[in-house]
Amino acid sequence: MFDVEYLDIPPLSRAAGTVRLPGSKSISNRVLLLAALSHGQTTVHALLASDDTAVMLAALRQLGCTVQQQGDTAVISGLGGQLLQRKAALFMGNAGTAIRPLTAALALLGGEFELSGVPRMHERPIGDLVDALRQLGCSIEYLANEGFPPLRLQPSPGPLKLDQPIRVRGDVSSQFLTALLMALPLVADRDIHIEVIGELISRPYIEITLKLLQRFGIQVQREDWQRFTIPAGSQYQSPGEIHVEGDASSASYFIALGAIAESTRGQHGIEILGVGADSIQGDIRFVEAARMMGAEIDSTPHSLRVRRGQPGKGWPLKAIDLDCNHIPDAAMTLAVMALYADGTTVLRNIASWRVKETDRIAAMACELRKLGASVEEGLDYLKITPPASLQDWKPAAIHTYDDHRMAMCFSLAAFNPAQCPVRILDPKCVAKTFPDYFEALFNVTEADATLIPVICIDGPTASGKGTLAALTAQRLGYHYLDSGALYRLTAFAARRAGVSLDDAEGVARIARSLPVRFQGDRIFLDAEDVSDAIRTEAAGMAASRVSVHPQVRAALVRLQHSFRQLPGLVADGRDMGSVIFPDAPLKIYLTASAQRRAERRYKQLISKGNTITIQTILQDLEARDARDMSRQAAPLKPADQARLLDNSELSIEKSVAQVIDWWQATRPF
Ligand code: DC
Repeated sequence: MFDVEYLDIPPLSRAAGTVRLPGSKSISNRVLLLAALSHGQTTVHALLASDDTAVMLAALRQLGCTVQQQGDTAVISGLGGQLLQRKAALFMGNAGTAIRPLTAALALLGGEFELSGVPRMHERPIGDLVDALRQLGCSIEYLANEGFPPLRLQPSPGPLKLDQPIRVRGDVSSQFLTALLMALPLVADRDIHIEVIGELISRPYIEITLKLLQRFGIQVQREDWQRFTIPAGSQYQSPGEIHVEGDASSASYFIALGAIAESTRGQHGIEILGVGADSIQGDIRFVEAARMMGAEIDSTPHSLRVRRGQPGKGWPLKAIDLDCNHIPDAAMTLAVMALYADGTTVLRNIASWRVKETDRIAAMACELRKLGASVEEGLDYLKITPPASLQDWKPAAIHTYDDHRMAMCFSLAAFNPAQCPVRILDPKCVAKTFPDYFEALFNVTEADATLIPVICIDGPTASGKGTLAALTAQRLGYHYLDSGALYRLTAFAARRAGVSLDDAEGVARIARSLPVRFQGDRIFLDAEDVSDAIRTEAAGMAASRVSVHPQVRAALVRLQHSFRQLPGLVADGRDMGSVIFPDAPLKIYLTASAQRRAERRYKQLISKGNTITIQTILQDLEARDARDMSRQAAPLKPADQARLLDNSELSIEKSVAQVIDWWQATRPF
């Protein structure tokens, strides 16, 4: 996951490959609760691992449910409709799919519970559900604002009133009806009727609820979308095993990607595994909307393949005017596809966007405008006209409002024809439903290598380049190249093979086919973890010796270039800015006095239990500097336009802050 303040996405050009979707959020959270309420044990496969499912799992555990997790499988021992814990304070984060059905189930089962969430959750309405439950005689109190969480539930003073039809509004959120449908089977000692008031929105989500209830043994009878009956004697029974489909809303970003990105040469668009024609999720109908806009989509029961339409036919995309009531979440993706359309796109009947993770209509309008689009915002619609010409596109820092879908949607703006980079603020909010979204995106997208930013940090030994580069990379979510490690590895492998370090050709041959693998911060040569072996003083000296050979340097160029990957790279070494990445937008020459560097190295070595004098280190250091600076091939020196940073008196935090400041000054945001 990109746990950074912001993520800069360089201009993207092409896409191709396969994406395996994470499990559906809606199905995962419903299945978890149903399994917990059932008789028997349920094994849930392909469960989504995300913030919202973590919230549900934590709550179920607090209520006394046993859950064993291994990878994406969870084994849940059902409570059989009986709570083991009747008193708990439950934190629901910002998970609407958790707080609503849990409120209903706990209110009916009885006990003392408090349900709260993040501040935004306390702005999301729940009054219609509370009203419905109060008709039944449940005791529910608002702890802050009328109509909103946090809530306190208490045992109902008398028997539940189940004889009257329970009336619930359906026009604010379908989750209120879902919550009742999932909770009422717990008390169905007679037929229970639910009547929907107002037009029911987001019906496909009710269909998911009904289908899953069926899997757990409850056959709800439905008359139109107005009246639902839970038959007397209904009881939850575990189906034993259940597979969670891939998330159809998450699929929308990759469907859109396939529709707007040219395919990488020789490949056939984007293949999406986990949902297909057999999906029970309403958002699968996003496929129809994407087709209307020009995408070419083939489907199998459990997968999709998407390609961009032919020029003049499906590309540029066609502007559409669509009632989006049936795909409320995925429709956000259409708003960003509209940036690539041949006219004005209108998305209608989207009022529910206003009560989601954020006011999505306002948020979408504001951020699309930042990119240069013209947007008209209505109470329940958006009209989006793309930037009129290349000059009208603007690089933008996109606010995501703690809304995962905002972050995922706007990543697609990086395909803009003006090649403006896009900054996504707080990208980790995707953890709500798709923690590895950006990794999945970068796996199947390509950018022109010269547009992938590189920050070069060169300098003498023990100047602290490695720490500075690694921390900078972490702050920006970039890859990290420790080029010195490649020279160290080469010398190490040459010694192993019995090749003299002075044999330029022999060492170069080894460098050309280094079987190296980087795994986190460990370095492997074939299967052997050599991370520590190449870090010794002797290994550094040997690296310095092999690094004087031009043939060896040439042999390592391609390997070093291969680290320039999305979304960016921080590289440290001696010649990163001068030779390997001469076009890097930021080059830093990091140094510190020889005395300072010797002291640092001394501390490091002593802490590792070495016995050595500071004098020896200083001599070694100066010898290595002299060789690295005086060699013919790519000598150590500040690159043209390099910024000098002397960190003799700077803390590492201050050094990182300085680099980030310089970096920020190169950015258009
Ligand atoms: O950064 P380091 O101490 O791990 O580097 C070990 C040696 O490798 C260094 O003394 C010189 C050589 N080197 C190089 O010539 N060019 C680089 N880009 C990185 C390291």
